[in-house]
Amino acid sequence: MTPPPDSIDMSLDTAAIKADFPLLKQEVNGQPIVYLDSGATSQKPRQVLDTLDRYYEEINANVHRGAYHIAEQATSAMEDAREAVQRFIGAPSSSEIIFTKNATEAINLVAYSWGRANLTEGDAILITALEHHANIVPWQQLAAERGVEIRWLPLTDDGRLDLTDLDQMLDGVSLFAFSAASNVLGTLTPVRQLADAAHGAGALCLVDASQAVPHMPTDVTEWDCDFMAFTGHKMCGPTGVGVLWGRTELLDAMPPFLGGGEMILNVTREGFVPNELPWKFEAGTPPIAEIIGLGSAITYLEAIGMDAVRAHEVALTDYALRTLRERHGDDLIIHGPVDTTKRGGVLSICYRDVHPHDLSQVLDQRGICVRAGHHCAKPLMKLLGVGATARASLYIYNDESDVDLLSDGLAEAGDFFSHQPD
Ligand code: ALA
Repeated sequence: MTPPPDSIDMSLDTAAIKADFPLLKQEVNGQPIVYLDSGATSQKPRQVLDTLDRYYEEINANVHRGAYHIAEQATSAMEDAREAVQRFIGAPSSSEIIFTKNATEAINLVAYSWGRANLTEGDAILITALEHHANIVPWQQLAAERGVEIRWLPLTDDGRLDLTDLDQMLDGVSLFAFSAASNVLGTLTPVRQLADAAHGAGALCLVDASQAVPHMPTDVTEWDCDFMAFTGHKMCGPTGVGVLWGRTELLDAMPPFLGGGEMILNVTREGFVPNELPWKFEAGTPPIAEIIGLGSAITYLEAIGMDAVRAHEVALTDYALRTLRERHGDDLIIHGPVDTTKRGGVLSICYRDVHPHDLSQVLDQRGICVRAGHHCAKPLMKLLGVGATARASLYIYNDESDVDLLSDGLAEAGDFFSHQPD
């Protein structure tokens, strides 16, 4: 990330931001809600909710079909959202923005379309030890079907990618698929360096940026990657919409993924002619409201400024790591890098010998929402030697008081469970 100029005020007015999120006004178990699970899904601001309402109340019609006023408005609102996504991720063209259901579907699209057209027995894919199942299983399915080899880039002890043997591991690889940010460790990976290494070895690269795009400025041109996937619901947008970005020349050469309406130029009894990009990959009625809602989420985040979003997260993560460790000492393990310039605001916690599900239940009594479990990253959990962690993940509406309440909740859980009879 380019460091922001000194003259820009990076502090977020979290109170004003929080006031935009209706859900955060409610109480849970008699306590004001403390939402620390934005890694799973973010909350939605009033501005996005209003956009969804306006779509259904004023311009609900199918897109790219009707030649009447509201259908044209719906089509143009959806295509405006595509341009917003293009701008937000620095893509050269809006026709490279493919709307999918989520990041998982975006990665599957590449695995099914590019993977099955290009990979065969003896080819290899490199992934990393910190991947979410979404960036593991589609490659395992392809490997099982085609006899493709899957290699795993290892981690350092503090949860960063171990690049020692990267060039060797890339030798003979066709695709390097890796996350920009880990949903368990918070680790930020050196995307440009990894993309350069992949290209140097003659491989393409795919970036799972689901945990990065919502939290920092993203520029696929600067990253020089080939494919990038992310999802709308972790960045203040609705569920049901994700994005695949890919280079035009790659997308053009790929066969369609799903077949049906929208993705064709012509259909006869003998066959079909696929549509142009991006519609070639958007079979059926798209999630119109959700796409327009994602556009609204981008407008919301751009008004805050993604440099400011990242700066806030660095400061808050630094506060959390420092204060939680000072107060809880050896009772607490927070997995992942210590250096906040190398990580995002995802805190995977093990506390004494309290099971993460028990921890999350005690925290829930205090209105605190964290995710407990394997976080859809079972190979990584195995590597960490744990079955589960309790994960607190920070976002634009969180501040120090949320971290302090989490800290109090951890202390209570520790006291409660350490006083239980055997
Ligand atoms: N991938 C999401 C998470 O990490 C659901 O929680």
